[in-house]
Amino acid sequence: MRFKAVKGTRDFYPDRMALRNYLTDTWRKVSARNGFVEFDGPVLEYLDLFSVKSGDEIVSQLFSFTDRGGRALAMRPEITPTLARMVNAQINSLPRPIKWFSVPRLFRAENPQKGRLREFFQWNVDVIGSDDVLADAECIFTAVDCLGEMELSPQDVVVRIGSRPLTVAALRQGGVDDSAMETALAALDKRPKVPPEAFAELAAAAGIPAEALGKICDFQDAKDLSAVADALGGGGAEVADEIGKLESLMEYLAGMGAGDYCRLDMRIVRGLAYYTGIVYEIFDAANSLRAVAGGGRYDNLLQLFGGPAVGATGFGMGDAVLEILLTEKGKLPDLSAGLDCFVIDGGGGLPKKVLELVGRLRRGGIATDFSAKRQAVGKQLKEANRRNARYAVIVRDDTVGVKNLTTGEQTDVPIEDFLENPVAYMAGVLEQELRK
Ligand code: HAM
Repeated sequence: MRFKAVKGTRDFYPDRMALRNYLTDTWRKVSARNGFVEFDGPVLEYLDLFSVKSGDEIVSQLFSFTDRGGRALAMRPEITPTLARMVNAQINSLPRPIKWFSVPRLFRAENPQKGRLREFFQWNVDVIGSDDVLADAECIFTAVDCLGEMELSPQDVVVRIGSRPLTVAALRQGGVDDSAMETALAALDKRPKVPPEAFAELAAAAGIPAEALGKICDFQDAKDLSAVADALGGGGAEVADEIGKLESLMEYLAGMGAGDYCRLDMRIVRGLAYYTGIVYEIFDAANSLRAVAGGGRYDNLLQLFGGPAVGATGFGMGDAVLEILLTEKGKLPDLSAGLDCFVIDGGGGLPKKVLELVGRLRRGGIATDFSAKRQAVGKQLKEANRRNARYAVIVRDDTVGVKNLTTGEQTDVPIEDFLENPVAYMAGVLEQELRK
């Protein structure tokens, strides 16, 4: 009987694993330099945690089951509700603002397609306990910092920034009732993803009056903030306040050096139901792939989960689209694993000396391996090359040959000298090569 991996999951063979580690290591490095500390939660949560406020789309994609005690559980499709639950549990002892990040493994029963899987990793960066738009700027800056670290430029990726309050204002002006708001927002979120006729149908089904649709689309297509204000007919104090926040956000981002990556775009609505303020998604500049990341402000979620009213904002960046983007742009670094040295049995039948040397080098922090088979020096050298070793250390009766496998240069050292301190010798050689 032969088994395949489950649909929408991935096997991480070593080369794939190296790539995954490159992404997660970079996420962790960038989080740390932006002042975020790491947390994690369980993969399993009570189903209710997600059905309360994440929205119908994500609930329809849950892997859920009933355990033997009759409890309805779900495998986490996102970590934001877990974050809200965890912060609520310790809200009085946590100094605010809370700057936390996480790299959870997530599960969504999606129809697998390019960039969409059933199991994936997602970098989450969130600030909790600040109503200031500076917190949104911090999160967006951290995302941009990561893209820059991965050598993606504003020609490669763009952060599109929208606003839930302004979108809600446009929908209210169009006659959408607050009770239908969540569905109407979900329909607008689909606009860039479906043909116009399908969107018109979705909008009608969501309770957006047909005669208001043109005006709402004009609002979404507005090119700058004054056009946004015009489309809303000036709006009230709430609209002016939100426009002011977007202005400050763009100023902060420009001030931090991330302005070139960011653009206002009222077509960004977001699919999750809990967003309350500024929202954003990151796309490839050519707009040929799904979103690399998405996030925004969710000021009510903690309160909804029984906590105090504290502001929260953040984003999630998935590994799948990012990997496609980096591959397409040729931006993945050389991730092939290598060894510092490969110890070669040059005299035949001296595994004791080889093993002693291997042990000492490894304990000294030099990545070392040797051939598991007793075979001719030529074959061992071939293996050393195949294993991507930088040096071969050929152990003979009286000398040790240290061979640079890139240049072919070889130095022979009397064995007693080499064995005095092989770690220092190899560390010196490796460092010299680095300096070249
Ligand atoms: P999301 O938009 O559902 O937001 O996901 C964010 C990113 O995760 C997407 O842009 C995409 O790159 C990746 N992603 C989502 N679903 C899949 C999938 N099935 N396969 C591969 N990648 C996927 C959230 O999850 C929010 N909780 C983010 C957030 C954090 N908002 C505030 N804080």
